[in-house]
Amino acid sequence: MTDDWLFPALRFAQYAVMLGLFGSLAFRMVGLQGLTPFLRPATGRVTMLATLAAPCITVAVMLVGIARMMGQAVGDLDGATITAMVMTTDMGTAFLARTALAAAAAAVLALVRPARRSQIIAAWLYALALLTLAWNGHAAASEGWPGLAHRLNDATHLLAAALWIGAIGWFSRLVWTAHRDPARIRPAPLLDVLHRFAPLGLALVAVVALTGTINAHFIFGIENSLAVLQTSYGWLLVAKLALVALMLGCAARHARAAAQSAGASGREPAMSRAGLAQLRASLVAELLLAGGVLGLTAFAGLAAPMAG
Ligand code: HEM
Repeated sequence: MTDDWLFPALRFAQYAVMLGLFGSLAFRMVGLQGLTPFLRPATGRVTMLATLAAPCITVAVMLVGIARMMGQAVGDLDGATITAMVMTTDMGTAFLARTALAAAAAAVLALVRPARRSQIIAAWLYALALLTLAWNGHAAASEGWPGLAHRLNDATHLLAAALWIGAIGWFSRLVWTAHRDPARIRPAPLLDVLHRFAPLGLALVAVVALTGTINAHFIFGIENSLAVLQTSYGWLLVAKLALVALMLGCAARHARAAAQSAGASGREPAMSRAGLAQLRASLVAELLLAGGVLGLTAFAGLAAPMAG
């Protein structure tokens, strides 16, 4: 069945575009203040394409998700079924809110000026759109107060992971430019900003790890970890943790490189071109690993955590 790959692929696209948009807009404001004069407006072609893609991908995820639940092909779905699922379930309400928030964010980025105001508003709209993701999937399965705690924990996981991805994306892009055209972005202030990012980076990793562990506890109970390894869900989670460990390895390397070059005197270059090229490669590797983590999560959210 084509839906076997289509649904996880769409879920991956939804994570990539939503986390990417929130992360890049929010990190630009909180993590790159020292570099504002070097930055172009956040309404470049790629960002604007992503803002248009976000609501379309959300609609596609919902339609393919409903078809999967009904055991039908997407083309066979009728209007009454779609309306019933969208209007009468929490999942449907979350979908409507997410689509509206993503569309509003796209309109704000395209129309509202000055750019800084539109970025702040759009970042908040995407944060709320990420929040709605916690009302789908495994986080939406628990009920009552534990259910609410699970969803809020999941939303915190998503926001922290998105900021982390935003940081890697920005630093990859800026180091790339500094290597290619040092007159446009001077390496010294960029490496200082990367160095100053270390405490925030550490805090984000801690929040992602803590909320991820709490997520796992809500879903299958940490005490059942060995039993979960009997399922493909468990192995998807193990693979995810392995990729996260590799991401941490890359992050530690960037922190060391930035610490060594931070505060270089104006007379000597902050980092050699070869050093910048290595840093760029390692940042891109971390970004690709983050993509792998999102891909595995897109599959894990559809797998059964317990056998039987
Ligand atoms: C120690 C690190 C981490 C742990 C223990 C962890 C654990 C988890 C768990 C158990 C879930 C629930 C999966 C499900 O629906 O069954 C989850 C969801 C998720 N995680 Fe992580 N994770 C970690 C790091 C990351 C990182 C680094 C990223 C991003 C690069 C990430 C992105 C996500 C996303 C997008 C979701 C889906 C949330 C949703 O759809 O509601 N996680 N994580």
